[in-house]
Amino acid sequence: MPLRVRLIVWVGSVLLVSLGCGSALVVWHAGKSVQTELRAALDVGTHGIQNGLADRPGDLRRLVATFDGNRHVRALLLDDQDRLVAASSLTVPTRKAPGWFRRLIADAPAGVRVTLPQAGDAAAIVLQADPTSEISEVWGESRDALAVLAGFALLTMLVIYAGVGRALRPLESLSVAFSQIGKGNYLGRVPQHGPPELMRLADSFNRMASGLAAAAAQNRRLNERLRTLQAEERAELARDLHDEVGPMLFAVDMTAAAIERLAGNGRAAEIPAHVQSIHDAVGRMQRHVRAILERLRPLQAVGLEAAVHRLVSFWRGRRPEIDFVVGITVHEEWLHDDLKETAYRLIQEGLSNAIRHGDPTRVELVIASDDDALIVEVTDDGQGMPAYGTDEDGPARLGLMGMRERVMAMSGSLSIRQGSGRKGISLVARLPCAGSVDAPIQDAAE
Ligand SMILES: Nc1ncnc2c1ncn2[C@@H]1O[C@H](COP(=O)(O)OP(=O)(O)O)[C@@H](O)[C@H]1O
Ligand SMILES: [Mg+2]
Repeated sequence: MPLRVRLIVWVGSVLLVSLGCGSALVVWHAGKSVQTELRAALDVGTHGIQNGLADRPGDLRRLVATFDGNRHVRALLLDDQDRLVAASSLTVPTRKAPGWFRRLIADAPAGVRVTLPQAGDAAAIVLQADPTSEISEVWGESRDALAVLAGFALLTMLVIYAGVGRALRPLESLSVAFSQIGKGNYLGRVPQHGPPELMRLADSFNRMASGLAAAAAQNRRLNERLRTLQAEERAELARDLHDEVGPMLFAVDMTAAAIERLAGNGRAAEIPAHVQSIHDAVGRMQRHVRAILERLRPLQAVGLEAAVHRLVSFWRGRRPEIDFVVGITVHEEWLHDDLKETAYRLIQEGLSNAIRHGDPTRVELVIASDDDALIVEVTDDGQGMPAYGTDEDGPARLGLMGMRERVMAMSGSLSIRQGSGRKGISLVARLPCAGSVDAPIQDAAE
């Protein structure tokens, strides 16, 4: 059941109970007022009769007739056998109260009998109270009061229904916006109005949607960069194979054809020199293919430590003025491939960042371990991170972001601090590796 309907049912039930109590009170009051009114009418009637008897004792029929048209009391003149001699006529109301209401109201008080001193055949005058007229009157008043009460309850419910609907409207737009988020559309925002609680909710939602949109955009950029990198790598590979390996294969083919010709012409003495040149060409091709493989999969080709040293030699060749220090104190055969790959990529990006952005004189690379984690550190003494460097809103930070993602994928942590001597930065990653640092992988698997 929707919240709005639920609220209305609760409020309606409370109002209904109040209405019931109000009605009971009205009926009780009506009963009392009918009793009081009729008793008063009987008293007045009794006094009237006593006064009439004192003034004109013989004129009993006229005395009874004075009650004609009375709304509450009917006078009956009875003989000594209690037979009716004369009776006054009651005024009957045109609109009577419904039977259930009349039954709810207490009975009318008993009548009054005035015994007459001996005066012909009449022995007594009886005054009968008739509540019909008074009940009709009370019914009219009670009905109005109950109608006002019911109208008030209805109005209250309508106001609450409309008010709650208005107050909950922001929730509806929030639920629509959430379903959009579920479908991967992060551009929707909800208007911030309504009660403060819902405004805070809308504000949090909008900030969450902005965060998701930014993350999705970064993801797209990262994927694009990955695709570009892959395309560049493939183009480079194709160029290498075409420019380097292609001519050598062609040379081998030509030399083989020459050997064939020499053999056919009987010039066997010249053949060994040509065979030697084939050996040389194949050797060059093997070195070249190995170099390509090392570039593509450095770790698998040469291992972590050698790959790091190659990386350092690469940069040392380009930036001889920088002092590179490498400290690797783990046995890499004890590390999982994923761990080695992550450590290498962190070193690769950290090193390239230090050189490209920091302008350092010294860069130190460390791969070490403590009890349960592999520690990878890249420390430079360059100019340090600009203010936005670690800020989420800074410019393209795909390198740092990629590092964070790699570290997170290994359930590790990455911190970027100021480098030693308050210069440069120090990038420290901890990669949990329960068991794998302390024992060779083969042993752990056995
Ligand atoms: N070692 C460093 N020294 C100084 N600034 C750095 C260093 N590493 C990163 N930065 C700053 O952080 C920014 C983000 O680095 P990164 O995410 O790798 O992106 P990119 O290298 O593509 O600019 C860099 O643009 C640079 O301003
Ligand atoms: Mg970078």
